[in-house]
Amino acid sequence: MSSPRSFPRDFVFGAATAAYQIEGAAFEDGRTASIWDEFARVPGAVINADNGDVACDHYHRYREDVALMKGLGLESYRFSTSWSRVRPDAGAVNPAGIDFYSRLVDELLEAGIMPWLTLYHWDMPQALQERGGWTVRESADLFTEYALSVHDALGDRVTNWATLNEPWCSSFLSHIAGAHAPGHQDAGEGLLAAHHLLLGHGQVVRELRARDASLNLGITLNLTVADPVDPHAEGDRNAARKLDGQFNRWFLDPVFRGVYPADILADIRTEEPLALKRLEAAVHEGDLDVISTPIDTLGVNYYQGEFVSGTAPAVPPIELEAPTDRAIRAPWPAPADIHPHERGLARTGQGWEVQPEGLTRVLTRVWEEYARPTDTVLFVTENGAAYDDEVVIEDGQERVHDVERTAFLRSHLGAVLDAAEAGVDVRGYFYWSLVDNYEWAWGYRKRFGIVRVDYDTQQRTLKDSAMEYHRIIRNRTLSV
Ligand code: NOJ
Repeated sequence: MSSPRSFPRDFVFGAATAAYQIEGAAFEDGRTASIWDEFARVPGAVINADNGDVACDHYHRYREDVALMKGLGLESYRFSTSWSRVRPDAGAVNPAGIDFYSRLVDELLEAGIMPWLTLYHWDMPQALQERGGWTVRESADLFTEYALSVHDALGDRVTNWATLNEPWCSSFLSHIAGAHAPGHQDAGEGLLAAHHLLLGHGQVVRELRARDASLNLGITLNLTVADPVDPHAEGDRNAARKLDGQFNRWFLDPVFRGVYPADILADIRTEEPLALKRLEAAVHEGDLDVISTPIDTLGVNYYQGEFVSGTAPAVPPIELEAPTDRAIRAPWPAPADIHPHERGLARTGQGWEVQPEGLTRVLTRVWEEYARPTDTVLFVTENGAAYDDEVVIEDGQERVHDVERTAFLRSHLGAVLDAAEAGVDVRGYFYWSLVDNYEWAWGYRKRFGIVRVDYDTQQRTLKDSAMEYHRIIRNRTLSV
């Protein structure tokens, strides 16, 4: 039998959530609508027309949830603040709104859990969307003001700050594919949104750094590995290059190197010349210097890899279940030459490939090419899986034997250890998610939690995966 594998001494184990997905209390204590409150009400936008009005009612149950985290032995908790709770309608600070996060942070610290705060997890105030949202430059400035007001209130107790969560989703998936709020389908808008999001990121890093040099500042990106079906075929290599460009390099290159990737700019010039013109007009002199302001941590969100070719496969890939009936565009200008293939890997309950070694490769690549040269350390800020959990009653107790999620957790923690053992400076792992929650366009249908939420009663039940995570954290080892 092989011996258990130990995690580095200061490795941080955590779990993650986001404001709109768990808080509920959508219109309480002065909070006003965000783009997700609005989008969730668009007919057909979200399965079952689910919305975040109540969600996991975490706004009222945060004490119970922090107690759960403590029981599991979590060392850090990644959550986001809601812009429309803190500054309703992107206007003045709402004391009741910010006070919620202040109480949450106190509760966490009291439980010995390190807060890990994300400023933007996709819920821009609707009032700002009506002024153009992320497609206008003003939003980067208002985002900076909002960030500073969160720091005014919490800066004495929170050390770890991430500006954005997955800007790929809040730009391309939201403004080109139309799958997320605000649900637009326009290539130029997607590029503008991405630029202004990144500008907001850079401005916030600069301002927070100037206020307090001891803060740990960063951004969270969703990254993937793009493998060509045939590495010798030019068309397949080109498809992988493009996918890598839109997912990974479009965000990594400006943040770490102060440039947009030249090959992708050239693609857009050919495929969407008008969109490129709009982007060029929006990029002011000095923007990329701001965007590439040094950061301390890069948060890596990893779910699955991609296996692509330049031509349509003879055997069509598994048809992924679509969250809605709306026509969703591909999330990138003119993607006609990127075709996903089936490669026989296991899939989650959402149809996503289970590919743990992809996580090792993503971490190794970003460490070598981006993080190490700039003295940035890595954290896995999200990784997890949705499965169709079944509740069984045993000895009068509800149980969820989520064997597949438990295996997913273990294999991906193993992948993180593989990277760490190969010299990658990866300092922590946050499972997505602590609790089942509002999975955006999938509503409450998809469950990612290690803790089950009964949405009728709001009862929380630890799944087997939670018990396993607890054991791993307690022993700081992964048994093999
Ligand atoms: C990424 C997002 O940050 C999170 O909000 C979402 O629920 C998970 N992935 C799962 O899709």
